[in-house]
Order: sequence, then structure tokens, then C-alpha cells
Amino acid sequence: MLNVIKMKVNGKEVELAVDPRESLLDTLRDRLGLTSVKRGCEVGECGACTVLVDGEAIDSCIYLTMWAQGRSVLTVEGLKGPNGELSPIQQAFIDEAAVQCGFCTPGLIMSAVEIVGTGKRYNREELRKLISGHLCRCTGYENILNAMERIVEETYRAVGKE
Ligand code: FES
Ligand code: FES
Repeated sequence: MLNVIKMKVNGKEVELAVDPRESLLDTLRDRLGLTSVKRGCEVGECGACTVLVDGEAIDSCIYLTMWAQGRSVLTVEGLKGPNGELSPIQQAFIDEAAVQCGFCTPGLIMSAVEIVGTGKRYNREELRKLISGHLCRCTGYENILNAMERIVEETYRAVGKE
């Protein structure tokens, strides 16, 4: 039996009939065409499918779409500015050469959005732990950490904490 749910996806109201077993990953990628959300391990181990639900980073492959009823979902597609410009976090990943094949990148960027949103000034080792749920087969993580450190620092300064 299908259930009708309502949620917000990247700021837009969405109403869908969903199978109770349907994952948020399937809904976002296959039904809403949000292909930034990557299908990796599908068992909650690699972080490629990470999106934000009410501001919290979750593995969408092990999150049922029904659980998103009444909630707000954010993917990389929802980060762009009004004229299509990249968000500062995406730009930091480019500037720090933190992207190679790019498969892990959307998930890492969504975790970065959550991390930056806390307003805390995490150091490199703390950031390393915070992204430990993400697997990257290309970069060796150092450039990813450079991008994260940079955006955390820039945001911290921008809100006048220093
Ligand atoms: S695809 Fe969801 S954690 Fe790997
Ligand atoms: S850039 Fe290829 S998996 Fe991370």
C-alpha cells in the first residue's frame, strides 16, 4: 500500500505516494531527479548519499522516505544561489582541489553544510573525525580537510567571533 507524504525538498513542497519501504535515496535520485545524491554502498557505510533532513546529515540510503513526512530535505542542488552561483562551501572544494572523481563530493559537501552551520571552530583533527563516515577513494582526504578547515574558519570570522 502506498502512503501519501508531504515534505519540502530544496525549499519546494513535494507531495508523493511512496512505498513504505522506499528509501529517501531512491525518492530523491530516481523520482525527483536529484542526481547529486549518490548511490554507493546502500548500507550506511560510505556517506555518498548524505543529505540534510531538518539540518541534520543522514545517510539517505538507510532513511525511509516516510520518515521525512513534514520535514525539510536539502541536497547539493539546493545550495546554489539565485543566479545559479556556487555556495562558498562548493567553491572552497574547488579552490582546494578537494575533488577528483567527485563521487564522494556531494555527500561531503552536505556534511560540511551541517558542520559549518554549527558555527563551531573545529580544528583539523575534529574535522577528520566528523567526516570519518565518508569514504573517498581518490583524494587521500587532505585536500578535503583543507577545504573544510578553510570554510569553517571563514564562517567563524564572518560571524564576528574573531
Ligand atoms: S550509499 Fe548510503 S552510506 Fe553508502
Ligand atoms: S573524489 Fe573520488 S571518491 Fe572522493
